[in-house]
Amino acid sequence: MKALLIGGGGREHAIARAFVRSKSAGKLYAAPGNPGIFSLAEKAEIDANDFDEIGNFCKEKKIDLVIVGPEDPLARGVADALTAKGIPVFGPTKAATRLESSKSFAKEFMNKRGIPTAKHAVFDFSQKKEAENYIKSFGDSPVVLKADGLAAGKGVSIAENSAEANKILAEYFEGKFGEAGKKIVIEEYMEGEEASYLAISDGEKYVALAPSQDHKRAFDGDKGPNTGGMGAYAPAPIVGAELAAKIEDKIIKPALVGAAESGFPFRGCLYAGLMISDGEPKVVEFNARFGDPETQAVLTSFNGDFAALLYGAATGSLNPSDAENVAAFYSCCVILAADGYPLSYPKGMEIQGIEEAEKEGAIVYHAGTKLENGKLVSSGGRVLGVTGTGESLKNAVDNAYKAASKIRFENMRYRKDIG
Ligand code: AMP
Ligand code: GLY
Repeated sequence: MKALLIGGGGREHAIARAFVRSKSAGKLYAAPGNPGIFSLAEKAEIDANDFDEIGNFCKEKKIDLVIVGPEDPLARGVADALTAKGIPVFGPTKAATRLESSKSFAKEFMNKRGIPTAKHAVFDFSQKKEAENYIKSFGDSPVVLKADGLAAGKGVSIAENSAEANKILAEYFEGKFGEAGKKIVIEEYMEGEEASYLAISDGEKYVALAPSQDHKRAFDGDKGPNTGGMGAYAPAPIVGAELAAKIEDKIIKPALVGAAESGFPFRGCLYAGLMISDGEPKVVEFNARFGDPETQAVLTSFNGDFAALLYGAATGSLNPSDAENVAAFYSCCVILAADGYPLSYPKGMEIQGIEEAEKEGAIVYHAGTKLENGKLVSSGGRVLGVTGTGESLKNAVDNAYKAASKIRFENMRYRKDIG
C-alpha cells in the first residue's frame, strides 16, 4: 500500500513510523514533512495546502491512501475533495470535522445525543448583555469561555470568577479571535482529571487506541500558560477497563452513531478530550484527528498493522484484528521545547545528541526541526518529542528522561514531571 501523509509535526512523525512498521505498508510520501519524517518517507514536492496538487500527485504516483494529520486541511474539506476524485482518505469530511471546528456545533450535537459534557450556552456579537447575564448565573464559580472556531488551541479561557469572565468576554467582543470568535461558547467549569481517548472509525465500526494523558500547561505541576502539549503518556492508568467501557458506551458509540444518523459518518480518528470526575467521564472537546503529543505515546505502544487499519477506516471496511495490541507496553513522550514557548521564543538553534538519545532506546520524534546548511536546527516552539518505552509506566518515564538528557540545544526547556 502506497500512502501520502499530510502534515509536518511530531504527530505526523509518529504516524509515519507506525505506518512503515506495518505489514501491509508500501512506500510512504509526505508533504510538507520534516527531517525526522524524511528518514522514513520521501518528500512529495507539492503544496500540501493545494487540494488539486495533492489529487494530481496521488494519481501520478498511484497513491492508495492519503493520511491527514492536522485539523486545518480537514476543516477546509481535503477529505471531500480527494474522495470526489476516488482517492481513499483517512480523515473525516468537512461536515464531520465540525465536531472539532465548531465548538457550538459539537455542544449541540452532544446535547442532542445525550453525551455527557459541561452545561453551556452560545452567544453571538449581538448578545453581550445575555452573555453577561449567563455568566452571572454561575455565581462565584469559575466559568469557561471558548471561541467557537479553530484558534490553534488558544481560544479557551478559564475565568476564576464572574469579574474575570466579564473582562475576558469584553476581549471576545472586541474581536480578539477574528472569524473563530464570531460566536462564543460559555460553559460550566468541570473539576477532575483529564484523559484523551482516541478511536479509529470507518463510520460504523471502531477500534479504541490506548487511553492517554497530555500535559497542557507549560511548567511543572501544571503551572503556566496552556500549550499545544508538553508531553504525554500511554496507556494512562486512570482509565481502567471499567472506565474505558463507560467512555465507549456513553461517548464514543453515541458519537459515531449520531454522526452516521445525522448524515456525516465519521471516518478517521475521533479524539475525545475527557474530564474524569468520581469515575464518570464528560467531554471537554472533540477533535477530528490524532492528538499531538498523545499520538507520539499512543502509537509507539501500538502493535498491529496500522496501515491496514487506516486503509480499512478510509474505505468503510475496518478490520479490528489489524490492531493486535493497542498497548503492547508503556510509552512516555517528553517534549523538548524552546524556552519562551508558547509565547515568543528563538528559532534556528542547532540540535545535538539525537543519536545518543536513540542509543538509550528512545524514539526521538521531530516536531519543529529543519535542515539548514546540513545542520539540524529548531524551527518551532515544540522541537522534539523524546519517547521512552518500558514494561511499566515508571520505566517508560525513566527511559524518556535518560534519553532527553542527551539532547542539547540553546534555550532548550522541558517539563520534569511528565507521566
Ligand atoms: P479545549 O480546547 O476545549 O480542549 O480546552 C483546552 C483546555 O481547557 C482543556 O484541555 C481543559 O484543560 C480546559 N477546559 C476546557 N473546557 C473546560 C471545562 N468546561 N472545565 C474545565 N476545564 C476546561
Ligand atoms: N494534545 C491536544 C490536542 O492535540 O488537541
